[in-house]
Amino acid sequence: MRNLLGLTVVFSAAWCAGAFAADEAGQEAFNNNCRTCHSWKKGDNRLGPNLNAIIGRKAGAAEGFGYSEAMKNSGITWDEGSLDKFIANPNGFLPNNNMKPFSGIADAGTRKQIIDFLKSNPE
Ligand code: HEC
Repeated sequence: MRNLLGLTVVFSAAWCAGAFAADEAGQEAFNNNCRTCHSWKKGDNRLGPNLNAIIGRKAGAAEGFGYSEAMKNSGITWDEGSLDKFIANPNGFLPNNNMKPFSGIADAGTRKQIIDFLKSNPE
């Protein structure tokens, strides 16, 4: 029984370390690809709107940000699927939006890391 307990502790520790590493990688991928224009902090609009609680948020809804007509009228509510398609190819997914200088992320794994990071809703 004692051994079994020890094993559980080791497993949990490894699992936590894994989860932590995934968050770090997501943050790094976000920093490398998105942070020039976006913050995840509430109300912190930069070149792009803040991405606080973006999953489940309606497109074009960050207060005080001047969106394109395309984004405002898109009718999108951001979920994992739409975010993935958008950051894979912003202009293909939503023509005439203002995220044009960003050509997208081809690597699905990197996109997932970024989306998981945004889902964790860091403050
Ligand atoms: C060159 C600057 C730039 C980069 C880099 C960039 N974005 Fe954007 N992003 C924008 C702008 C500008 C908008 C507003 C688009 C519009 O109004 O049409 C936007 C809009 C968005 C929206 C819609 C937000 C809303 O409120 O509806 C999401 C989601 C988004 N970006 C995610 C990302 C992610 C994730 C990355 C990194 C993978 C990224 N962006 C990289 C400039 C950028």
